[in-house]
Amino acid sequence: MDKLELEKYIPIESLTGDSYPVTDTSKKLYVETYGCQMNFADTEIVNGIMGKSGYDITDNIDDSAIILINTCSIREMAEARVLQRLTEIKKYKKKNPKLVVGIIGCMAERLKRDLVTKKGVVDLVLGPDEYRKLPSLIDNLIDTGEKGIAVKLSRVETYDDILPIRKEGISAWLSIMRGCDKFCSFCVVPYTRGRERSRPLEGVIREVKQLRDEGFKDVTLLGQNVNSYISEKFDFADLLEACAMAVPDIRLRFTTSHPQDLSLKLIETIAKYDNLCNYIHLPVQSGSDRVLELMQRSYTIEHYMKIMDNIKRLIPDVSLSTDIITGFCTETEEDHKMTLEVMKEVRYDGAYMFKYSPREKTKAWKMEDDVDEEIKTRRLVEIVELQRDISEEKNRETVGKEYEVIIEGISKKSDKMLFGRTDGNKTVIIPLSDAKPGDKLMVKINRANSATLFGEAVTVN
Ligand code: SAH
Ligand code: SF4
Ligand code: F3S
Repeated sequence: MDKLELEKYIPIESLTGDSYPVTDTSKKLYVETYGCQMNFADTEIVNGIMGKSGYDITDNIDDSAIILINTCSIREMAEARVLQRLTEIKKYKKKNPKLVVGIIGCMAERLKRDLVTKKGVVDLVLGPDEYRKLPSLIDNLIDTGEKGIAVKLSRVETYDDILPIRKEGISAWLSIMRGCDKFCSFCVVPYTRGRERSRPLEGVIREVKQLRDEGFKDVTLLGQNVNSYISEKFDFADLLEACAMAVPDIRLRFTTSHPQDLSLKLIETIAKYDNLCNYIHLPVQSGSDRVLELMQRSYTIEHYMKIMDNIKRLIPDVSLSTDIITGFCTETEEDHKMTLEVMKEVRYDGAYMFKYSPREKTKAWKMEDDVDEEIKTRRLVEIVELQRDISEEKNRETVGKEYEVIIEGISKKSDKMLFGRTDGNKTVIIPLSDAKPGDKLMVKINRANSATLFGEAVTVN
């Protein structure tokens, strides 16, 4: 978003008068999270840091003395949503002028001081590597009225020693690395999250065991590019193997992988351990080598397909998903058709599909965003529809078969049904009477649509 556009969302307000001493001693913290899983995991880290400093975490915004918004910059829409939300939050501040409002996460890192100078409602701005400073910046704000800004990126911060505060449940996120060094030409993440760094292997193992002890059954290891994980001599496949052995009764997944360095060793490791889920998310972005090169993705479709062939050969019942961007700079109808072809050839179980959104600072920002909005939309609709058909076909193939399902909770659509997930990350609905959350059981699938499988319990383990 350029400055002018930004100003459409941000009424320019003078700073004078919006600095005041906050005297409310209430320690109720409410955090609202946008963006990717890493942001959700970071919110749990923030809750951990704040919990240690005596703050109470609340789910009720009306109760809170501090509101933090953990934000995403990946596409313009993601930022626009938060800026819109800030105008709503202004109302809370009107009701309670002592309310502390902070923007944290990727937008904080990208827009920095502008968030404070242009949005009077914002008291704190903290980037993703600065969360340890939250308690002291809040104290300082309360004591002096001085707004807090901390946006330095770190080469070492991994919050390895911070105990995240998670909601009780069945599935958990676990961050194993931070940052990204790939610099795909469309992507803002290397600028908002900084350089790659990995947590020590022992810290990850310690946490995964702790999650098991707390009753979690399904853990997703997180990083922008988990294949770059490196701790002493241990690579990501070593880490995954160590986790698989440490908690053999816990399902383990990971996201995200970059096709350039998804190794054969990693595929073999997944194939070797039952508790490593047969599910791989491998973003392709485009089916055209020419576009991939402009995107600086550093692989060709031939290379990508070779990886896919190895995955399908070594992990026979694997589920696959991907990310796709439509309408990247210079994308032609021909390029778009190549993307459709790749989708048909791989037959993904699911896909996250986006229209290209130019981001300031990135290499592609300087290229012309030359695909018309209507064309982008039409191409997006085409890939979404194709994926829906493929997902439906693949899900229908499960009918009559049995899958091991871990039950996660009551279905959102009916309180008489439970929902759970297969090893391949497919959502399954079964009758409430068949099980309870946390159960691992065999389910026979009776019917399926493009998003969900429906079945009934066969045996309870
Ligand atoms: N690290 C992950 C992706 C993180 S962002 C990876 O490389 O796979 C998640 C997805 O958002 C990306 O895979 C991409 O498809 C999409 N994305 C990123 N920047 C975008 C942009 N400028 N416009 C549209 N989609 C974008
Ligand atoms: Fe962005 Fe590319 Fe890094 Fe993924 S690998 S976070 S798309 S720069
Ligand atoms: Fe968004 Fe930042 Fe994640 S830009 S996608 S929240 S790393």
